[in-house]
Amino acid sequence: MAGAFEAFGPEALKTVDAATFREAMARLGAAVHVVTTAGRAGRTGFTATAVCSVSDQPATLLVCLNRRSRGTPALRENGVFCVNTLAADGQEIADTFAGRTGAAGEERFKVGDWMTLATGAPVLRSAAVAFDCRTIDVKTVATHNVFFAVVEAVHIGEACPALVYHERSYKRV
Ligand SMILES: Cc1cc2nc3c(=O)[nH]c(=O)nc-3n(C[C@H](O)[C@H](O)[C@H](O)COP(=O)(O)O)c2cc1C
Repeated sequence: MAGAFEAFGPEALKTVDAATFREAMARLGAAVHVVTTAGRAGRTGFTATAVCSVSDQPATLLVCLNRRSRGTPALRENGVFCVNTLAADGQEIADTFAGRTGAAGEERFKVGDWMTLATGAPVLRSAAVAFDCRTIDVKTVATHNVFFAVVEAVHIGEACPALVYHERSYKRV
């Protein structure tokens, strides 16, 4: 884990504490995504706000997933995933894939209508947009793995209000 921070020298890094950082991050409104994967390691997924565009040439994005998440081994082994950006009516799907209903792995797909595009990762038909991705690199930073991936296909959903997570609540934008 030290690897990513060694470049900054031997002295301890000064940071705000975790609680302050979490409180600060709660002020940021963020789109809610369900990141899904399928392949040899099975089908699973998780809810994420830590998704970011990296480059449009080649089309590349990143997703940050806690190393303790049960989805981590499957995401690594399958090498493909789909970022499904939820529409405003996707709150039940968000809670299911955040583990809030108790459903795990394959069970989480009982909610939603799923299809596949290029990589075989599950694509949510009702998503505002879905990015079908192939992993090209994984970096471990602190508590998380950062998955970099190229976008092989997109599913543009119908124009609709978005689901945003802000101050620890879902909001419709
Ligand atoms: C709105 C929301 C956003 C989340 N964003 C992330 C995220 O970006 N990265 C992450 O690792 N976990 C995130 N989580 C937590 C995971 O969804 C949750 O820990 C995971 O699905 C449940 O863990 P399990 O898959 O191990 O059961 C988020 C949860 C919620 C409700």
